Amino acid sequence: MKPILYSFLAASLLLAGCQPSSDQASSGTSKQKVARQLAGGLGPLPPVEHPVDNPMSPSKVELGKMLYFDTRLSGTERVSCATCHNPSFGWGEGVGLSVGVGDQLLGRHSPTVLNSAYYTHQFWDGRAATLEEQAKGPITSPVEMNAKPEVVVKRLQGIPEYADRFQKVFGEPVSFDNIAKAIATYERTIVRGNSSFDRWAAGDDAAMSESAKRGYQLYTTKALCITCHSGPNFSDSKFHNIGVKGSGTADKGRFDVTQNPQDLGAFKTPTVRNAALTAPYMHDGSIATLEELVEHYDKGGENVPNKSPLMVPLKLTVNEKADLVEFMKALTGEPLADQSLPELPY
Ligand code: HEC
Ligand code: HEC
Repeated sequence: MKPILYSFLAASLLLAGCQPSSDQASSGTSKQKVARQLAGGLGPLPPVEHPVDNPMSPSKVELGKMLYFDTRLSGTERVSCATCHNPSFGWGEGVGLSVGVGDQLLGRHSPTVLNSAYYTHQFWDGRAATLEEQAKGPITSPVEMNAKPEVVVKRLQGIPEYADRFQKVFGEPVSFDNIAKAIATYERTIVRGNSSFDRWAAGDDAAMSESAKRGYQLYTTKALCITCHSGPNFSDSKFHNIGVKGSGTADKGRFDVTQNPQDLGAFKTPTVRNAALTAPYMHDGSIATLEELVEHYDKGGENVPNKSPLMVPLKLTVNEKADLVEFMKALTGEPLADQSLPELPY
C-alpha cells in the first residue's frame, strides 16, 4: 500500500503546483521550457510593423504622444484623443456610447486603441484601412473634435516647440498629414502583451491558473471563440454579426461600408487581449462585464436579422463560464513600450 499512497501524494502535490517553479528548474540541469502548439494561430504578439511611407523614429513617437494628449487639436480646445481613448480606462472611454461635443451621445462605443496596431481595418465597421487615415476622422468630425485642419495646423505652427519638432521629424512645417502620421506612429506603441497566457504558451506551466487553462480549452473548442478571435491578437480581422441587440436594425455596421447584405449588422472582431481592462464591450458598449459577455455567447446572442450561424446556444455549465472569464483575465498584458504621459509645449 505504502508506495502507492506515496506516489498518489506526490502526484497531488504536483497537481497543486508544489513542484519547483520552472525558473528554479531551468537553473538546474533538467527542464527546458517548450513553447506550446496553440490552436487557431494564437501565440505571442509579433513586433508591430510600421508602414514604409511612415517609418518609426523615437522623436516621431514623442511628437505623436504630445499630439494625442493635446486638446488644442480640437475646435473648442477641450477635447483630445485621450478624452475618449484614456489610458486610465484601458485606453477606451469607460462608458457605453461615446460622449461627443456638447455631451451628445454618439452612435457607437469608443473602442480601446490598445493593440489597434495589429488590425487590418480600423473602426467597428472597418471603414478606415490605416491608423494614419483613421486619425484624421475624429479631428474633423463635427461631433468629436470638430476642428478645421487649417486652423489646427496654424495653431500648432504658432507654438515654437511644435514647429521645431515637426521640422526635425518630417523635414517640413506642420501639416495635417504629418499630424496624422505622428499620432499613428505613437499609437503603434500602445501595445500590451506578455500576459500570463503568453508566458504559459511559452512553456511556463505555472503562469496560468488551472481554471484559466480549462478556459483556454473551452475557448478553442466547445465555446467556439477561436473561430473568430484567432491569431496572435485574438482577431480574425473579419466582420461578423454576433446578435448584439440592434445589430442590423439600429446599426447596420459593415453593411454601410460595403452595401453587401451579408454584412448587415456585422462588426469587426475586436481583440480579446486586455479585455479585463476595457469594459464595457461591443460596438454599442451594451455589455458591462465579462460575465455578462459569456452569458451573451452562451445563449447564442439576441434574435437579430442576419445573425452568424456560429451564434448558437453553447450550453456551458456555471463552472465552464467561470473558466472562460478566468482565461480572458489571463490575457491582460503589460505595456510593451513606455506609456508615460507627455509634457505639452506652450
Ligand atoms: C468624442 C470621442 C472620441 C474622440 C475625441 C476620439 N475618438 Fe477615436 N473613436 C471614438 C469612437 C466612438 C470610435 C468608434 C467609431 C466607429 O467605429 O464608428 C473611435 C474609433 C477609434 C479607433 C479605431 C479603433 C478600432 O479598434 O477600430 C482609433 C484607432 C481611434 N478612434 C483613435 C483616435 C485618435 C487618434 C483620436 C484623436 C485624433 C481619437 N480617436 C479621438 C471616439 C473618439
Ligand atoms: C462569429 C464570430 C465570433 C465568435 C464565435 C465569438 N466572437 Fe467575440 N466578438 C465578435 C465580434 C464581431 C465582436 C464585436 C461585436 C459587436 O460589437 O457587435 C465580438 C466581441 C467580443 C468581445 C468584446 C471586445 C470589446 O472590446 O468590446 C469579447 C471580450 C469577445 N468577443 C470574446 C469572445 C469569447 C470569449 C467568445 C467565445 C465564448 C467569442 N467572443 C466568440 C466575434 C465573435
